[in-house]
Amino acid sequence: MIGVMPHQTKYFLAGVMGYPVMHSRSPKLHNYWLQLHGIEGHYAPIAVRPEGLEKALRALAPLGYCGVNLTLPLKESALPFVDRVDPLARQIGAINCVVVAEDGTLDGYNYDAYGFIASLREADPHWQANSGPAVVLGAGGAARAILAGLIREGAKEIRLANRTKERATALALEFGSEIEVHDWNERSGLLAGAAMVVNTTSMGMIGQPPLEIALDKLEANALVAEIVYAPLETDLLRRAKLRRNSTVDGLGMLLHQARPAFRHFFGAMPEVTPAVRSLISATL
Ligand code: ATR
Repeated sequence: MIGVMPHQTKYFLAGVMGYPVMHSRSPKLHNYWLQLHGIEGHYAPIAVRPEGLEKALRALAPLGYCGVNLTLPLKESALPFVDRVDPLARQIGAINCVVVAEDGTLDGYNYDAYGFIASLREADPHWQANSGPAVVLGAGGAARAILAGLIREGAKEIRLANRTKERATALALEFGSEIEVHDWNERSGLLAGAAMVVNTTSMGMIGQPPLEIALDKLEANALVAEIVYAPLETDLLRRAKLRRNSTVDGLGMLLHQARPAFRHFFGAMPEVTPAVRSLISATL
């Protein structure tokens, strides 16, 4: 055990709200860290329908909760129901962590961008956002978090392609001049000269067809990242590995986004270790 609290007087409560919620890996992850850090507390799955979200969030303080994570379909709809929204969460347009302040008011954060960037740094501690162009595929909710993270880290050239081009154009207008929009059918050619490519679409997920993209223009030192974590090794990552490119799977983002949330709720910053990785990958 690390950081055992000798005179802990409070029993810490937190959880994850979603609908459905029982598939969430967060309880397993947070409860493992609680035990590892010797903190008395519990992290629970809480099924909340969108229409009950406001009341459920307002009940956190009287119930003695430190906060909750939010998952589908509640991330976007939570914005009006917290008292303060962190600027990055505002830019992403979604909240995945609600923290109860001392006075019972609620702060909303989004740690998906943090989780993505931290997972890149786990794979390559020297990773820099401005080391070359980044190719981002997709323009949904996940893409918003990835784009916000890359831009905050100093990315200067982001090549964005999405099946529905208008969604990509709207994102570029909203997020800034670092983003240049390309046609979806240009995606294989966009890899030429790029330092990294990230798939934020649902292609490659269990039950979905693989992402169709030719990798022959992929640079030998380019990083290939996924946000999909089921399966852990998508067809894209498998093909990138065959070419000996560095790869980052979607599990890293899932694990790393939980670290700052745990620190808010329970007061200690946990680590993503091989043991944590195998604990959660065993459930995929
Ligand atoms: P999320 O919040 O997980 O990002 P989303 O907002 O539904 O989910 O976005 C899914 C992304 O996958 C979108 O970029 C979507 O492209 P469209 O904007 O054209 O819908 C992309 N996507 C889903 N199915 C696809 C397919 N068959 N081919 C290409 N892109 C696809």
